[in-house]
Amino acid sequence: MKYLALQKPSLARFSAVLLNAILGLLVGCSEHSPAEHIAPAYQSSEALPGGATSASPKPFVSFQLPAANLARELKSDFYAGQALAKQPWVKAPTITTARDGLGPIYNARTCLSCHIKGGKGFISDTDQVPLLGTLIRLSKPGVITEEFTQAGIIPHPVYGDQIQGQSISLAHQLRHSQKPGTLQHDVAPEAYVYIQWQQHAFTYPDQHQVQLRQPSLEFRNLGYGPLGDDTLVSIRVAPAIHGMGLLELIPQQDIDLLADENDQDGNGISGRVNQVWDVEKQTMAPGRFGLKANKPTLAMTVAGAFAGDVGISNSLFPQQPCTKAQSKCLAALNGNDAGGFELPDHLLDLVVNFNRNLAPLKRSHFKSEKIMQGREMFYALACNQCHTPSFKTGESQSFPHLAGQTIWPYTDLLLHDMGDKLADNRPDFLASGNEWRTPPLWGVGVQHQVNGSRALLHDGRARTIEEAILWHGGEAENSKAKFIELAKKDRETLIFFVKSL
Ligand code: HEC
Ligand code: HEC
Repeated sequence: MKYLALQKPSLARFSAVLLNAILGLLVGCSEHSPAEHIAPAYQSSEALPGGATSASPKPFVSFQLPAANLARELKSDFYAGQALAKQPWVKAPTITTARDGLGPIYNARTCLSCHIKGGKGFISDTDQVPLLGTLIRLSKPGVITEEFTQAGIIPHPVYGDQIQGQSISLAHQLRHSQKPGTLQHDVAPEAYVYIQWQQHAFTYPDQHQVQLRQPSLEFRNLGYGPLGDDTLVSIRVAPAIHGMGLLELIPQQDIDLLADENDQDGNGISGRVNQVWDVEKQTMAPGRFGLKANKPTLAMTVAGAFAGDVGISNSLFPQQPCTKAQSKCLAALNGNDAGGFELPDHLLDLVVNFNRNLAPLKRSHFKSEKIMQGREMFYALACNQCHTPSFKTGESQSFPHLAGQTIWPYTDLLLHDMGDKLADNRPDFLASGNEWRTPPLWGVGVQHQVNGSRALLHDGRARTIEEAILWHGGEAENSKAKFIELAKKDRETLIFFVKSL
């Protein structure tokens, strides 16, 4: 406890909170060791969140840089993958067959129009324009029968598992389609979705106030009839995609060790592994990617995004995004090549490897006294119980530069019940409507510099780290309660640390 020993005035109060926390634990639960609330000694590797892959944020902050240790001869493949993720796909048929097959219904023409510059997506602040680049996932309530075990949800019979708000229709492209009847003979986009924000003020015990906002949706111009009142809807802003190859190499057994499904240690935090369908292995497997950890591998995540978000079929997801009820969509020309898919495997591999090799950034500030104080608080408030600071990546013959790295992603990749207020009430495989996967915190402080987005939490409701913490509930209720009790200066110190990650 080197830094608490410094006893700065602001820390005096903080250490009282810490002491209470420790005493509370000792009284509340004898098996539970207070040691886990005490920050371990600082390690020099903390400056390099992605180990030897960490890229320098100078001269500019970007989540599009290749792993710093990526072999020279692999760099051209990285940039080829980036081009495929960045350049717009077009409607079939075209004279260039390499980039056609868009849609017929879709969300965006490129990956990076949602994961802008490799960072998070945006969500509209107003209801003046329909959402673009924000996914709306859909399903129906009920018991998952055999028919849907591979989907993990019951898709909407007409709209499927997500709203594709765009289509290849020229009328839509020219934004004429909001006039009734325009799309009678054409493939209609599924809906134009508008967001409204309800604001309310949160007041700390010290009377300081923060404005919080909560979304609600309005579906206009539904292209295929009513959604039905019982439809489950989940709003998802695109997460940042740097460091994916490192997260992929965290040994599953290390994640399993962190899971505590029945909260045996009695600390109020459980955490569990999602079990999801692996299309390559044709079996259930632990989930790791996606906001509810509903995808087991990076390849499936990327292939799923091509099929669902851009409408580009591939060997893992060979279907067009149309449901059986969408006949014009099904009848539209596709962009299949000789192999029978719109995206051949070698191009899919390039995009997967591009994602795999996107580098986390070196931290610019990591050892100042204020950051060390914030670091103490991060552990004292049990943030580290879900935002697991560090892992060592496993072996990999295919990607030796990503193997055996000590990384600092600040996630356990587990599902946690975050309370009713953050719930989307839409289950996904084992994940309940209240559960979300702990998001990595590496780079969260520079996100805004990457592309201007301030959208935090699954639906982008939080615009600051403070707001994000104030929305924590469920298993994180105690952490949040302790945060609220802190003096304003100490709250800022914790946030300062989180921003430095
Ligand atoms: C319409 C916006 C949009 C487009 C286009 C899009 N994504 Fe995503 N992406 C998302 C959202 C939202 C999520 C979270 C999905 C979920 O949990 O349901 C996500 C998740 C991911 C993840 C997992 C991140 C994590 O932390 O687990 C990766 C990797 C990814 N996308 C890559 C891609 C690639 C590659 C493409 C292009 C083929 C693409 N995305 C296209 C919005 C988008
Ligand atoms: C019980 C597990 C748990 C604990 C404890 C916890 N978090 Fe989280 N945190 C999560 C989950 C899960 C989310 C995502 C919730 C969502 O998207 O709705 C999240 C989201 C966040 C985000 C937003 C990240 C982003 O990219 O959108 C920040 C910042 C954050 N947490 C910081 C903290 C801090 C600081 C603490 C300690 C005061 C803390 N968390 C404690 C599980 C936890």
